[in-house]
Amino acid sequence: MALETALAGLYGPEDFGNPVHGRPAAPARSRVTAEERARALPMPSLEWTPEVERATAHLYEKVKAVIPPVEWPFMAPYIKAINELKRERNAVILAHNYQTPEIFNCVADIGGDSLKLAIEATKVKADTIIQCGVHFMAETSKILNPAKTVLIPDSRAGCSLASSITGEDVRLLRERFPGVPVVAYVNTSADVKAEVDICCTSSNAVQVVESLGADTVIMLPDQYLAKYVASKTRVKIIAWKGACEVHERFTGDELRSYRTADPGVQIIAHPECPPDVIAEADFTGSTAHMINWVRDNKPKRVVLVTECSMADNVQAELPQIEFVKPCNLCPHMKRITLPKIWGSLVYMREEVTIDPMIADKARRSVERMINLKN
Ligand code: 13P
Ligand code: SF4
Repeated sequence: MALETALAGLYGPEDFGNPVHGRPAAPARSRVTAEERARALPMPSLEWTPEVERATAHLYEKVKAVIPPVEWPFMAPYIKAINELKRERNAVILAHNYQTPEIFNCVADIGGDSLKLAIEATKVKADTIIQCGVHFMAETSKILNPAKTVLIPDSRAGCSLASSITGEDVRLLRERFPGVPVVAYVNTSADVKAEVDICCTSSNAVQVVESLGADTVIMLPDQYLAKYVASKTRVKIIAWKGACEVHERFTGDELRSYRTADPGVQIIAHPECPPDVIAEADFTGSTAHMINWVRDNKPKRVVLVTECSMADNVQAELPQIEFVKPCNLCPHMKRITLPKIWGSLVYMREEVTIDPMIADKARRSVERMINLKN
């Protein structure tokens, strides 16, 4: 089915007279509180010394294709300190594919797309999870690990999709479409997850929609992911008007100009992109599927139509491939930095908390997705 015309309906907060929605932006983080100071660990040195250079040389090898040597002395002391603090705090770092290369390759214990991070969160043995990603990812880890401490280095790391819809919006949609099952993209708050039947990620969205055995499904909040799924299934999709502020900026024209400049170039896109972009792409898939496509196909030159840091991370692994980076940065992902991760570990800040009743309901939707058989 054509991507542009695939949806059975498209709704937004204005359809329910409810313009106020989303997780309120967290206030800017103030100085260290007295409580945080009381539980602080002694601060490791952040000097660039021959010892730091030696201790981090193997890590620089992993990122030397994308981080110039002149920048490394500013990063390496934090990297060494973070890796030591992780052991002292019995903490693991989960990092999304959009984290910058020094975080993704040098301090993360597990890296991946939203689906992998959710699955891996269920297997964590450590006491503390540091989520290097955005707030909904940290909430997913907390939902799956209610007894563990989940920290996010900057709780202002939001997501335009997650803030486009509330639990109340989902209840109103259910009233409008009684009996129609609701699928929520994981890019939603715990409040929204608590109101839906099942979650999905961009890796498994078609499979999740078809697993419900319904002829019509409400899929929220990403209208473009919903259009993409509708073009791949017979199930009728009613969508929400949310969009990713990073992927919606790409255009088909932009991609055609890359092809005109180099007809041999391969273009691969994330399904959060608008339909004219997906129509121009040689392959569409989640961040993990995009990475696997590059690993398997080893194109000479490839355009990754997604967040910039992912191209850097794949380039660090596959330096022989030429990456064209249309480069839209996710401002939320970029709030996570080495100094803030270091601060998280020293002061055990910023803790993610969820009302246990909401977390219990949200867990059912996330686990139903994780337990789906391939
Ligand atoms: P993935 O599930 O493909 O990693 O995507 C998450 C995301 O936020 C993309 O913008
Ligand atoms: Fe949200 Fe888009 Fe950023 Fe992903 S890239 S976290 S969907 S705003």
